[in-house]
Amino acid sequence: MQELGYKPNALARNLRRQQTSSIGMIVPDSANPFFAEVARGIEDTSFGQNHSVILCNTDGDVDKQAAHTDLLIKNQVAGILFVAAGISTELVNDLQRRRVPLVVVDREVPGVAVDTVLTNHLQGGCMATQHLVDLGHRRIACVSGGSDLSPSAERLTGYQQKLAQSGIPYDETLVVKGDFQYESGYEAARQLLALADPPTAVFACNDLMAVGVISAATQLGLRVPDDLSVVGFDDVRLASFTNPPLTTIAQPKYDIGVLATEMLLARVRNLDAPPRVERLDTKLVVRGSTAVRNEP
Ligand code: RIB
Repeated sequence: MQELGYKPNALARNLRRQQTSSIGMIVPDSANPFFAEVARGIEDTSFGQNHSVILCNTDGDVDKQAAHTDLLIKNQVAGILFVAAGISTELVNDLQRRRVPLVVVDREVPGVAVDTVLTNHLQGGCMATQHLVDLGHRRIACVSGGSDLSPSAERLTGYQQKLAQSGIPYDETLVVKGDFQYESGYEAARQLLALADPPTAVFACNDLMAVGVISAATQLGLRVPDDLSVVGFDDVRLASFTNPPLTTIAQPKYDIGVLATEMLLARVRNLDAPPRVERLDTKLVVRGSTAVRNEP
């Protein structure tokens, strides 16, 4: 082989195995730093196992998600790491019928028995709200993500549970639906701060919307945290560099990527092992965007 300078043909080898050394990663928004930081854990782990990663962005569109999935299968990827764009039960069941190694990440897919890596989103919603209650806030607003997405629904439930446990009446005018993008946080804050009895604190269900909330409050002449406390969710690297630095709920992003990839490669080696569900903890990271309620 050395004399002839022979190098194995990966394409031929993959055709024989009917499998490439690539892993597919499907995400709803590749521009969101949360998925970029999860992808780093995936890429580092894959590279260490001689696999490359094919990143597919669905823009939260289930039709685009289906098209990407078909392309990955045609490219004979070894397996797929899957963050659902929306309700994806039928697609996941189809992939299982076709015996495509798969790990669902971050967003639970109902009605399927499949390897899954989740975060304890309910725990995070409770911690964010408890932090604000402990600071004396009673008019606490929540900017949620897409209601058909399990992480957002669970964070909102954590907020509602903690209000109830704290004896704070639930006011639906303090809950505004966002879409996990900066702009929806900005618009939600303008709506909330226009209320006759505006909130003194906002829990945004991800960091990008929290940045939008801070931007809107600042433009309205309010000081964060003196006039308005703001808590986010994810703890992307950006959260340390906002002004003020963002108090948030940290998800173990890199570890999510590492664990999901390890589970996928184990699934490739043993397609018929029982499904495994892992739920990782969140933690509160207190920075400069929250403070004791400012008595009027
Ligand atoms: O910021 C994007 C959000 O979508 C994150 O909170 C993550 O959990 C995903 O669901």
